[in-house]
Amino acid sequence: MGRSIYLDFLSKFGVGGAHPGGIGLTKDILKTEEINKNSRILDVGCGTGQTSAYLAEQYEAKVTGMDINSIMVEKAKSRMRKYQLPVEIIQGSIEDFPLKDGEFDFIISESVLSFVNQPKALKEIFRLLKNGGRFIANELTINKPLSLTIEEEIKQFYGLGSVLTEKNWITLFEKAGFKNINIRMQELSMLQYNPNPEFQCSEYIEPELYSVMYEHFNIMAKYDGVLSYRIFSCTK
Ligand SMILES: C[S@@+](CC[C@H](N)C(=O)[O-])C[C@H]1O[C@@H](n2cnc3c(N)ncnc32)[C@H](O)[C@@H]1O
Repeated sequence: MGRSIYLDFLSKFGVGGAHPGGIGLTKDILKTEEINKNSRILDVGCGTGQTSAYLAEQYEAKVTGMDINSIMVEKAKSRMRKYQLPVEIIQGSIEDFPLKDGEFDFIISESVLSFVNQPKALKEIFRLLKNGGRFIANELTINKPLSLTIEEEIKQFYGLGSVLTEKNWITLFEKAGFKNINIRMQELSMLQYNPNPEFQCSEYIEPELYSVMYEHFNIMAKYDGVLSYRIFSCTK
């Protein structure tokens, strides 16, 4: 994937809960899963680690957070130190992640899969999950196919390889071997993207990054009703 000015913005501003619905929606989703202190959980593309920290604090689960971006990794580690949480944070790519097969009971990815090579990442997620393990993904989804110009505008700004419909996502999950694929469509507009944003700013932020949040909301407003998201849940 090309450079993503949007991901540069998120990492330098240290945006927590950088996914539709923010940490509030994450908490709601987790309530419906069977998670306890014996659960081994992987937070793929954990960003600054807000969800990982919540899983460790609320459920006392054994959590690993992983992210490709060194600034995100540093900020996630600093969060765990600050709150003295025993969460392991690892830098790496989910397209090729050197942990053992069947290590996790539960894997979550929140607004990550659109940024990666999906077949490679889903193959890894499937491999890392125990048999019977659960995978939950909160991902950008278009309600209908886009014109090429609009698709390019979105791909360019966010640094995405593709923008997918619900059907495209399901095909990818099926091809990776997942079963019991369920979809929760949210009523929320993308304009309520992250109702309680959290920032952990770097000391130096490039001037060009200050306009990115504005551009992000501009795109969300312009394509409201077209750009959306889904919560996918499935089982290995
Ligand atoms: C939109 S942010 C979401 C971060 C976090 N899940 C959250 O909700 O706040 C996407 C994250 O995916 C990470 N990412 C992108 N490509 C990745 C890859 N190949 N492997 C792991 N993480 C990746 C980015 O660095 C970024 O932190």
